This record gives sequence, C-alpha cells and structure tokens, in this order.
Amino acid sequence: MAAEQKKKFTVGLVGVTGYTGMELARLLSVHPAMRLVRVTSRKEEKRKLGGLHPFLRGFACGELVISPPDPEDLASACELVFLAVPHGTAMTLGADLLRRGCKVVDLSADFRLREASVYESWYGTGHKAPELLVEAVYGLPELYGPRIAAARLTANPGCYPTASILGIYPALQRNLVEEDGLIIDAKSGVSGAGRELKPGSLFCEISGGFKAYSPVVHRHTPEIEQELSSIAAKKLAVTFTPHLLPVNRGILATIYASLKDKRLTLEQALEVYSEVYAGHPFVRVLPAGELPEMRNVRGTMFCDIGVVVDQRAGRLLLVACIDNLCRGASGQAVANANLMLGLELGTGLFMPALTP
Ligand SMILES: NC(=O)c1ccc[n+]([C@@H]2O[C@H](COP(=O)([O-])OP(=O)(O)OC[C@H]3O[C@@H](n4cnc5c(N)ncnc54)[C@H](OP(=O)(O)O)[C@@H]3O)[C@@H](O)[C@H]2O)c1
Repeated sequence: MAAEQKKKFTVGLVGVTGYTGMELARLLSVHPAMRLVRVTSRKEEKRKLGGLHPFLRGFACGELVISPPDPEDLASACELVFLAVPHGTAMTLGADLLRRGCKVVDLSADFRLREASVYESWYGTGHKAPELLVEAVYGLPELYGPRIAAARLTANPGCYPTASILGIYPALQRNLVEEDGLIIDAKSGVSGAGRELKPGSLFCEISGGFKAYSPVVHRHTPEIEQELSSIAAKKLAVTFTPHLLPVNRGILATIYASLKDKRLTLEQALEVYSEVYAGHPFVRVLPAGELPEMRNVRGTMFCDIGVVVDQRAGRLLLVACIDNLCRGASGQAVANANLMLGLELGTGLFMPALTP
C-alpha cells in the first residue's frame, strides 16, 4: 500500500470550500495515480476535510487538514495544483505557482482568452499576467489533447463553452453549416453560479421557476467565439442565451445553425459527428432519434450529443449535454491534469452516471 502511494503524483487544490473544489475532492479521493496532499481555504483553515465535507469521511483525503492558500507551501508539496477560485484571483496565484515549478490547472476564466484586451473588456479589469496568455493551453481535450499534455498551464474551459463548442465543433470543422448566425440556447443547473451565498441562488428564488439571464452579455460569449472562430478559421459572432434551471447540476445546450447544403440528411450528419469523435471516449454521439438527458451524464465526464436535421427550415440542430461540475469543470480539470502528468486522459474518470 505504501509503495503504491509513493507512485502517485502529489496534487493540491485551492478553493476546497466551493462547488468545483468539492467536486475535485470527490474525484481525487479515488484517483488511482494522484494523491491530494494540500487543500486550501481562507475561511476553514485547520479543519479536517472530512469534517467540512462529510461525504469524504472514510477516504484518505478526509484526514487532510485544510490550510491557507500559501503558494510557497503548495509548491513545496505538490507537483500540480488545481485553482478552483474566482477569476481575478487565479492569475496572480497561478503565476506564482508556475514560477515555483508547479504545473497548474486553472478552473477560472483568467487564462482562457488569448488576448488581454478581450479579457479586460469582458471582465472589466486588467490582466496581471498577460505574458502567460500565450503559454496557457485551452483545456478541451478533444481539440487540444497533445498541447495539453505538453503544457505547464491549462486554462480549463467554462461550463457553457464546453457543451457549446463540443456540440458545434464537427459541423463547423467539416463545413456543414454557415459560420454566421449561430444561436446557442443553453440551460444550466444552479451549482453553475458557485457556492457563495447570494439571494438569486436561494431555494425559494429558484425552485419551480425557469428564466433566461444575461443574453448577449454573458462572459462565456467571447470564449465560445474565440474557439469557434479558430475552428472555422474565420472571425465569427454567436448569439448566446443562458437560462437557469431549478436543478443542482447539468447543462443542456441547443444549438441552431444554417445548413450549407439544405439536402443534408440526418444519416450524413451523424456520420460526420461519429467520425470526428471516434477515439474520443468522453463524447457520445447518440443514435438517430435520440436526444441527451441530464440524468445520463450526472457526475461524469461525458458530453452526450443529439443531432437533428431540419431540412424544411434548412437548419442543423445540435443538443449537447454535460454535467457542469464534472465535465464542465472539475472532471475536465482532472482529465487535463492526467495528460499533463503523462497519464491516460480517462484515468480515474471513466464511470457511468448516478441515475435515477
Ligand atoms: N460552478 C461551476 O459549474 C463552474 C464551472 C466551470 C468553471 N467554474 C469556475 O471555477 C471557479 C470556482 O467556481 P466555484 O463554482 O467552485 O466557486 P465557489 O463555489 O464560489 O468557490 C470559490 C472558492 O474559491 C476560494 N477563494 C475565493 N477567493 C479566494 C482567494 N482570494 N484566494 C484563495 N481562494 C479563494 C473560496 O474559498 P475560501 O473563501 O474558503 O477561501 C472557494 O473555495 C470559478 O472561477 C468559476 O467561474 C465554475
């Protein structure tokens, strides 16, 4: 047992009190090749992790004592650190950890946008480590796997962008649809807003309701546009409208695109999707007539994609579904860390959904 533990990579987690931090701790508690050796919080330091999060009692990491987020201590103990913190915080912490020789997977938006000016205009604050934006690799393994494997710094994608980009990627890459006029209509569970207390996340504000929010101005828009423009080799703009669903976890994005060839059949579209995602075990292209459901991806790394051809209106419809906390954040972060540490992408991540 001791010899087996020695072979594991040591990893740290900044932000263990938040939702993505909790999900990271859950995944890392049973990871066969990584050992969580540091967990941090500014509010809960000195507590045992299993005391803060009782779902971790009985696991080795449940015995860890929570420490403050000190880069020197993290770098001395860890080969790789996950930053599960708000944007604005990760850029300084990430730069500090990299300087001290740690690899970093950042779950925030701080390193996702390649241009500091775009970051500044959407996030309303200057970037404090713009030199790292060129180095950071966008952590979507289906698009950037080999580059992630060679990276010191991975910018884990946002939850909505993960579902949206994976949903439209084959259609854009294989020229099935017009680059202009893409519409992304997406719904997320409430954990997408984080664990910080705010009236808009209270049970009575959410339960039994359903609403759109931040159309046109949501901060995931430039990230989606950056990646889709790169796939299409053309600068494009999308119309992205997020909605808040009264569920804990899950994102379902319905994407509307105009067909280039209005005679495209469902069989042809499905063939393209299956070809593009062959060899990518965490994307499941559903058979004709089937559509994704959140319950089938809950707690997993899977992105389920349903394809519909509307020949009458000349449109391709893609329905992409993920778990925002697992595939849309922490599971994807672990997958990226796997690659960065020389492990198989799916190490510790290949599991079916908890259902019903
Ligand atoms: N929720 C999602 O579905 C989702 C999906 C994809 C990406 N993300 C991104 O992932 C990051 C974390 O999201 P979340 O939903 O887990 O947020 P959250 O629930 O609000 O948790 C934020 C965490 O960051 C820590 N933190 C805050 N300020 C800090 C600072 N200055 N220094 C060190 N630690 C600090 C907090 O710990 P203490 O206050 O205890 O120190 C807390 O553990 C965000 O950037 C978010 O945009 C979230």
